[in-house]
Amino acid sequence: AVPQREQWTGQVGFILAAIGSAVGLGNIWRFPGVAYESGGGAFLIPYLVALLTAGIPILFLDYAIGHRGRGSAPLALRRIAGKFGEGIGWFQVAITAVIAIYYTGVLAWAASYFVFSFNEKWGEDTTGFFVSDYLQMPTDGSVFTLDFVPGVLIPLVIMWVAVLLILGAGVVKGVQRANIIIIPLLAVTFLALVIRALFLPGALDGLTAFFTPDFSALANPGVWIAAYGQVFFSLSIAFGIMITYASYRRRKSNMTGAGLVVAFGNSSFEILAGIGVFATLGFFAFTHGTTVDQLEGLTGVGLAFMTFPAIVSEMPGGGWAGALFFGTLVLAGLTSLISILEVVIAALRDKFALSRIQAVASVGVLALLSVVLLGTTTGLIALDTIDQWSNNIGIVASAVVMSVVVIWVKGKGGELAAHLNTVSTFRVGRAWIFFTGILAPAVLAYILIARIVDLIQNGYEGYPGWYLGIAGWGIVALMLVAAIVLPLVRWRHDPDNFDAWPST
Ligand code: PHE
Ligand code: NA
Repeated sequence: AVPQREQWTGQVGFILAAIGSAVGLGNIWRFPGVAYESGGGAFLIPYLVALLTAGIPILFLDYAIGHRGRGSAPLALRRIAGKFGEGIGWFQVAITAVIAIYYTGVLAWAASYFVFSFNEKWGEDTTGFFVSDYLQMPTDGSVFTLDFVPGVLIPLVIMWVAVLLILGAGVVKGVQRANIIIIPLLAVTFLALVIRALFLPGALDGLTAFFTPDFSALANPGVWIAAYGQVFFSLSIAFGIMITYASYRRRKSNMTGAGLVVAFGNSSFEILAGIGVFATLGFFAFTHGTTVDQLEGLTGVGLAFMTFPAIVSEMPGGGWAGALFFGTLVLAGLTSLISILEVVIAALRDKFALSRIQAVASVGVLALLSVVLLGTTTGLIALDTIDQWSNNIGIVASAVVMSVVVIWVKGKGGELAAHLNTVSTFRVGRAWIFFTGILAPAVLAYILIARIVDLIQNGYEGYPGWYLGIAGWGIVALMLVAAIVLPLVRWRHDPDNFDAWPST
């Protein structure tokens, strides 16, 4: 008998894994700063519009493709949209492979900082500590230096081993089990952190700064672009992740109901993070006799590894707050990393009929690259550039092309809507097809073009053009090559036979 494709044990396993993927660094260090800079309380309007008109509709599209196509991104998309669809799937696989290389690095840093929290090892000059002492970035302007940095290398290797072990254990015993353990733990550490922040002096001023609406921001197209970008990244859509996870659901499953739980769960997490982060920043401003709008380093790496350690040093019981914060980052990021890598593993298995263990071993190549790039003094430079291109160009392009090809070119909107409606509690219809096939791709195409033009005209962070040509455009070109070449390679199983599954 042909072995069965792996399956979640039920609705809860799937929902937890999907929330695990969605809730990540983006909720904690991206949303608060983006919202603050894009109209504060007023940002909730474009954010909700983006969520309802593009985020949730495309989340449902991912689910429908994965569940109907019952395969990894390239296989499911091939079944729905032919060879061209398969190419889109490989493009998504390439993006996740690239993201995994540096995402693991950030997790390793957070793990180091979790340990550093207990004796506040970063001292007074938190920026200097991070850049010079911890990352050991070259100060002479050199870009590629391959000196290993043991302080980064060791947690990085541990992270890779941990995540590959989880993935090697399979969908149920690895991915699902890890999420069942981590998500409740994450909820506890995160809530403890937010509640702690609310009781700090100055917290209220921070919240006021965060929520005070600037309605004039709504007239700024940049604010709407920021809202769509945040929703996309935050829901992990158009990365192939939700296609892959949906393919592990039983044939009769309530997809849209689960999707709404995941989407609103992710948003709640995000808004709570905004409250926690700004309460903390309010405290920081208060202790420095200044106001939140004077502070710098309110998002991303700067917030987590420079600003936050500085704040923690001034907090009573700060070591604990630091440990909670970095612990939360590690837990949130780990479940996202698992989902990113499962996209690659599932695709390799489907195409080349590999066992799970063989596929996990192949992913070891990514681990090696990651260790060489991020475990050395080259680290941060490659990271921000690759992140910029893969997230802002790659993902948005993938979303636009996927919707246009599936809904317009192949005309699959009705079929996919009917598929979702067979069992789901929340029914989709014309409005869904309109949002997924027309409105979302139109907005996203606009965002994409605006970004490409901006990057061509203004470069990025002052880096030299040759460097951006390699680390930015070159990476996207490689993804395109994967998208063109891999569909030409022969499938080791008949992709049209839904019963031919690789063994486990
Ligand atoms: N959705 C995650 C977040 O908000 C980020 C992510 C993107 C995770 C892509 C996996 C894949 O942080
Ligand atoms: Na998210």
